Amino acid sequence: MAYFTEDASVETVNARVSESADPRLQTVMASLVRHLHAFVKDVELTQAEWDIAIDFLTKTGQICDENRQEFILLSDVLGVSMLVDAINNRRPTGATENTVLGPFHVDGVPEYELGANITQAGGRETCRFYGTVTDLDGNPVEGARIDVWSDSEDGFYDVQQPDIQPRNNNRGVFTTRPDGRYWFEGIKPVSYPIPDDGPVGKMLGKLGRHPYRPAHMHFIVSAEGFDPVTTHTFVAGDKYLTSDAVFGVKESLIAEFTPIENGETLWESNYDFVLHRAT
Ligand code: BEZ
Ligand code: FE
Repeated sequence: MAYFTEDASVETVNARVSESADPRLQTVMASLVRHLHAFVKDVELTQAEWDIAIDFLTKTGQICDENRQEFILLSDVLGVSMLVDAINNRRPTGATENTVLGPFHVDGVPEYELGANITQAGGRETCRFYGTVTDLDGNPVEGARIDVWSDSEDGFYDVQQPDIQPRNNNRGVFTTRPDGRYWFEGIKPVSYPIPDDGPVGKMLGKLGRHPYRPAHMHFIVSAEGFDPVTTHTFVAGDKYLTSDAVFGVKESLIAEFTPIENGETLWESNYDFVLHRAT
């Protein structure tokens, strides 16, 4: 099979791979070629369509810099990020489910005492977040690290508006007490569009898809001896829950946000995290 034919396209390409290549790489590439060729044959791709695809991928690469990763966004809107996440984070029933990390997590943010307010500017819809971290048997997890971040009331993360929002606005790290409890103040998050001024946004527009994510608070909950959980809690009732642009919503992650009368905050939201022991 030295020469390429339409019928034997897959075998011809895969036969070129050296047997000394990394075995996992051989497996992954052989499958990629098989599926890619099947796709091209299935839709009988025209030359003009392939040119458009190459131009799209070129523009996707060209818009990337240290602050913008358009390929991850592409993976997100195609459901690939959530699929990889699902395959790599299978957990027993009852353990808190994962969802996408997203591009706006920041390392090294301030660690606060329980109860602190993570909103430094622009927080009208104040909210108290609270709950517990336990293991699958309901035992409290002391010293769990809870890393949280949300958008502002205008729907932007601090890193998207470095000249407008203070650094680390709506971010913080907390540690659970011996009884597994955590609590902190922030704002009730709002729904927002993913960055849609690039090729991925254009593609969504052509597909008649909106770029919005339902309102959510991001969490990474980790503790010694347990699988870390990267997740969000989603605001119950949000109009984008069933059409999240990046497919991140899971029913178990939808949390009630309840208005409070005469409280220190206008809203409160309870969510209990359940960690699975690392195997
Ligand atoms: C986020 O929730 O921050 C996010 C996730 C995926 C793409 C864009 C934003
Ligand atoms: Fe987000």
